[in-house]
Amino acid sequence: MAANQTNPVTSERQGAIAIIQIDNPPVNPLAQAVREGLVREFAAASADGTVKAIVLTGTGKAFSAGADITEFATGRNAPFLFDVINTIEASPKPVVAAINGLALGGGFEIALGCHYRVAGSSVRQLGLPEVKIGIIPGAGGTQRLPRLIGVEPALDMIVSGAPIDAAKALSLGAVDQVVDGDVVAAAVAFANGLIERGEGVRRTSERLIDAAALPADLFDKRRAALARHPSGPLAARACVDAVQAATTMSFADGMKRERELIQECLPSPYAKALQYAFFAERQAGNIPGIGTSVKTRDVKSVGVLGAGTMGTGITLAFLQSGIPVTIVEMKQEPLDKGVARVRETIEGNVKRGRITAEQGAAIGKNLTPSLDMQRLAGCDLVIEAVFESMAIKKEVFGKLDQICKPGAILASNTSTLDVDEIAASTKRPQDVLGLHFFSPANIMRLLEIVRGKATVDDALATAMALSKKINKVGVVSGVCFGFIGNRMLECYGEEVQAMLLEGATTADVDKALEAWGWAMGPLAVMDLAGIDVGWRIRKEHKFSDERMRLYRVTDAIADKGRFGQKTGAGYYKYEGRNRIEDPEVTAMFRTEAAKQGIEPRNGIPAEELVERTLLRLVNEGAAILDEGIAMRSSDIDTIYINGYGFQAWRGGPMWQADAMGLAKVAERIKFYETKYGERWKVAGLIEKLAKDGGTFAGLDKAKGKG
Ligand code: NAI
Repeated sequence: MAANQTNPVTSERQGAIAIIQIDNPPVNPLAQAVREGLVREFAAASADGTVKAIVLTGTGKAFSAGADITEFATGRNAPFLFDVINTIEASPKPVVAAINGLALGGGFEIALGCHYRVAGSSVRQLGLPEVKIGIIPGAGGTQRLPRLIGVEPALDMIVSGAPIDAAKALSLGAVDQVVDGDVVAAAVAFANGLIERGEGVRRTSERLIDAAALPADLFDKRRAALARHPSGPLAARACVDAVQAATTMSFADGMKRERELIQECLPSPYAKALQYAFFAERQAGNIPGIGTSVKTRDVKSVGVLGAGTMGTGITLAFLQSGIPVTIVEMKQEPLDKGVARVRETIEGNVKRGRITAEQGAAIGKNLTPSLDMQRLAGCDLVIEAVFESMAIKKEVFGKLDQICKPGAILASNTSTLDVDEIAASTKRPQDVLGLHFFSPANIMRLLEIVRGKATVDDALATAMALSKKINKVGVVSGVCFGFIGNRMLECYGEEVQAMLLEGATTADVDKALEAWGWAMGPLAVMDLAGIDVGWRIRKEHKFSDERMRLYRVTDAIADKGRFGQKTGAGYYKYEGRNRIEDPEVTAMFRTEAAKQGIEPRNGIPAEELVERTLLRLVNEGAAILDEGIAMRSSDIDTIYINGYGFQAWRGGPMWQADAMGLAKVAERIKFYETKYGERWKVAGLIEKLAKDGGTFAGLDKAKGKG
């Protein structure tokens, strides 16, 4: 069974059993040649009178990871997967799926089309994740799964897109047997048993659903619960509709309905944005000029300096990925507090059943707290998360340089300071970089990897590889104030302040932006993160008079000690978690607006609230791209989706700008520039691309970075 690209489906015989194997490395995607191969091999096995049963399996670690997503863009040709699966299911000889590894999407649908299923006990991923890329399962998954495991469990799996493991699949009836060891051998034995007992085919499509036994309002309730589904407004609803069809229609008609629904999803902007976001995230890991020939350094132990908010979160992120951490503080009290926070989180995870007690104990053992910086001498990577002060950071890095072993990477978690200046306080600036985690660092997926001007390739590549190891999305940024994410956010936040002064209320802004596609509105976010964070930064750094003027009310709110949720009030008042609009805050904005001579408007329409915040992000994003701080526009989008609550089904700010058309973007920005002046000055790159009819995505491609 030689693996080769031109013949990705092979077969062999074991007695009366034909074993058909999908062999399309690395994860057996169902490309056209695979579909053709399946049709060919099933026809051959059916025609061969000596074959009594068929086992279908995959090579390597996967049964099949499903459709070849690259075919979404180019279009797919016959044979279509739903026809291939119908052919498999129609086989007059029993077909047993030997699920040797992950079976997702179309791969899982093939397994559902087989008559019996045997899975390896180590298989962790079985399911239908299509909704996550804005579509629905389109090869019978929505029709067969409810017939096989029941309507409600099928809805859970299809609407969430979340995979299940082999044990869960067995308990749901999605597989017939779970085995340790050789899955193909077990499936062959299973098939021989069928032959011996004279048991024949068992087609999922022929099973009946007892629709009368379902709760009458089941589907309406499910649809009502989809308001903020991560796939956007279309795909999850279509999943529910498709499963409902399985309960009201014949299998053949249900299949037709499934096709109609997927055809509705495929061309939608949401599906396109989700698929773009999927590829953008993977692309972010490729650093131009740093190929696989660059050898990464081994990171077997990590040191964290500072056990505050960030230091403890970062410590948890590494511990949970099995990497030992030495955490160092200046004084006993903050050390004890930080360590207690780490241990409480681990215990909480055990209590919630996320990890076993043994796993929790093993994670805890990997933590070494200390007050002695010398303990960092043996660490392969040290991340500094002490107070945000250049003087302190320089002192700390000078010491780390003396203490740490040669070749150790020294990283700063600074959110605003110049990484090059920090690096210059060591004799090894080539090994210094920024690792900008987001709070809470054990949960947020984004990691900005800040490349200093002296940072060497293998240090950068090591940081990128490490981001994946700790389950983060690493994105490279150059050095500038706020790096990519926060520098853009400053502009976004500033525009929000301007609109509050013009007459929008806090609730107007948050509601409009949340309805459009942000996970949380900007004022609710500031109340959550603490209004004092920006207030302190504005006290320490020099900003334009305009920015200071726009933030005057917010600074006055912070002056009153209203820092947000942690003090019980900020932009809003809080009753538990519920935010309540505060007329006092509205009045403060009105009074200040009058002082500044700003003509009050009777509210601001939602479209304008959305457009102005979005365009400020886009304009700054373009400047960041032009300066080479970001390598690609898709990296900017990846940052916004993974660190700032920009919903993936909206693609990200730069994707939105391309969708709007850059000529229109330039025109709207210039319109606001005329109205509001300097802060709206259109970025040179936008003007240039608009003139040339270009796009940000096109620019990524032209640079060979798309
Ligand atoms: P924090 O004030 O909660 O913690 C800082 C800790 O560092 C304190 O426990 C302090 O005792 C300790 N420390 C100070 N000097 C030290 C030294 N020389 N040796 C050992 N420990 C020392 O601050 P937070 O919020 O954790 O911030 C830390 C860094 O992370 C800052 O650079 C900040 O800008 C950055 N950051 C903060 C984010 C946030 O949301 N809080 C997000 C991203 C970055």
